[in-house]
Amino acid sequence: MNNFDIIVIGSGPGGYVSAIRCAQLGFKTAIIEKYSTLGGTCLNVGCIPSKALLDSSEHFHNAVHNFENFGIEINPPKVNLERMIQRKNEVVEQTTKGIDFLMDKNKITVFHGWGTFISGARIAVKKEDGSSEELESKYYIIATGSKPVSLPFALIDKERIITSTEALNLKEIPKHLLVIGGGVIGLELGSVYKRLGSEVTVIEFLDRLIPTMDGSLSKELQKVLKKQGIKFSLSTQVTDVVRNEGNVVVQAVDKNGAEVSFEGDYCLVAVGRRPYTDGLGLENVGVEVDERGRIKVNEQLQTNIPNIYAIGDVVQGAMLAHKAEEEGILVAEQLAGQKPHIDYNLIPGVVYTWPEVAGVGKTEEQLRQEGRKYKTGQFSMRALGRSRASGDIDGFVKILADETTDEVLGIHLIGARAADLIADAVSLLEYRASAEDISRMSHAHPTYAEAIKEAALDAVEKRAIHS
Ligand code: FAD
Ligand code: NAI
Repeated sequence: MNNFDIIVIGSGPGGYVSAIRCAQLGFKTAIIEKYSTLGGTCLNVGCIPSKALLDSSEHFHNAVHNFENFGIEINPPKVNLERMIQRKNEVVEQTTKGIDFLMDKNKITVFHGWGTFISGARIAVKKEDGSSEELESKYYIIATGSKPVSLPFALIDKERIITSTEALNLKEIPKHLLVIGGGVIGLELGSVYKRLGSEVTVIEFLDRLIPTMDGSLSKELQKVLKKQGIKFSLSTQVTDVVRNEGNVVVQAVDKNGAEVSFEGDYCLVAVGRRPYTDGLGLENVGVEVDERGRIKVNEQLQTNIPNIYAIGDVVQGAMLAHKAEEEGILVAEQLAGQKPHIDYNLIPGVVYTWPEVAGVGKTEEQLRQEGRKYKTGQFSMRALGRSRASGDIDGFVKILADETTDEVLGIHLIGARAADLIADAVSLLEYRASAEDISRMSHAHPTYAEAIKEAALDAVEKRAIHS
């Protein structure tokens, strides 16, 4: 009964997708999840709730700032934060229940409880009521995800000094939200509260925002968010974070070496996430981790213990839901004797601010570092008819192509619906399109996608039509 072909530990997008693929391929599959709901970080406290709040706050922002210009007059709109959070919770509930349905449909046995390895073949599941049961399996797939990194001097009290998890559940709109970290979480959740009326100050250690994306996107995003009223203090090293009655004070050293301090009523610490393996009992089986606590895996995502695999945020690479999913599928198909492959260069990155930011392939910084000769094509969103109709005129598309062969090496976008447009860019890179190929494909008019064709024309021979 408690004997399986494959047991997956963790039910985030890596784990649950992997379990489904394992079951589709005929394996007797189980999944262990320590929380009462399935879906992991992404569905419960990550991708889905953050997007629900981004959408709500975007509607509010438009009602306050843009409706009148579009010829819609309404009473001044008010935020009902309680309802907004409730709706977000409803979206999360519907989505996680969907995973229960999928587990059922695929005949995957779900165990709720903490999974701890006993040996390479056995795992204990400790339930909330203190009881425990032991399971056996031929193979294990570890998909235990990640947790927020904390700063040694910034004790997360979950009230005023908070992580993204608490920021998705606030009971009031901060007057002044201090955000430590100008990465994806800081900018997405900073945007939510800025739109709802908070003053927002982002304090970033490096000299640019979203440091893993193409530098031109960082610059443009900072410009646009500044216009929206978010304040930035870049090249600023935080040295202390203290509670001061109802307020939080962040002490830091700025780019000139001067001591500076910021005071707000909430401080969101968003300085990255760390792989999560607490209580998993890796030491009981001898699974190795690297210096950053990530489970070490080879190209097949196999650990040093041959029947144990690991995927998603708990291993190296981008901490993204779709990367975790691809890895989950890769392991399942490999175990079924197939020969799947992931091209990590083609995993897109997206930031769901408005405008959205997205990129795939090589950044200009990477190409320069590799010493590769490349050419650039760029096209501004504001030159598109579609952008003028919607009023979303900020941003651009940038295409990087090999100087000699014209093969497209990277596509980087900032603008309306960039998060969806990037799927086209992934296909183009997957099929190794040249810039000229793109420039000769028909793009529906009027769409934001026309900017991709125009940027390609610019890359081919500086002959964009509308600039
Ligand atoms: P997780 O989703 O973290 O799931 C791991 C699961 O394992 C958890 O449910 C945990 O409870 C369980 N677990 C851990 N240890 C045990 C154990 N010993 N026994 C049993 N269960 C265990 N990514 C995107 O691609 N797009 C986005 O828009 C996006 N937005 C995000 C917004 C926020 C605020 C955050 C925090 C993250 C966001 N991410 C986004 C990142 C994304 O959530 C992660 O990359 C993704 O969830 C990783 O999936 P995973 O399956 O590796 O792990
Ligand atoms: P991040 O790695 O995106 O950004 C962290 C930022 O904090 C970096 O810019 C870093 O330079 C800065 N930083 C680090 N230490 C600092 C310090 N002491 N003081 C000031 N700044 C400091 O991490 P984030 O935003 O916490 O997100 C975690 C992960 O979740 C990311 O890896 C991301 O992939 C994923 N995520 C993805 C989303 C998406 O796909 N849209 C949305 C939200 C999260």
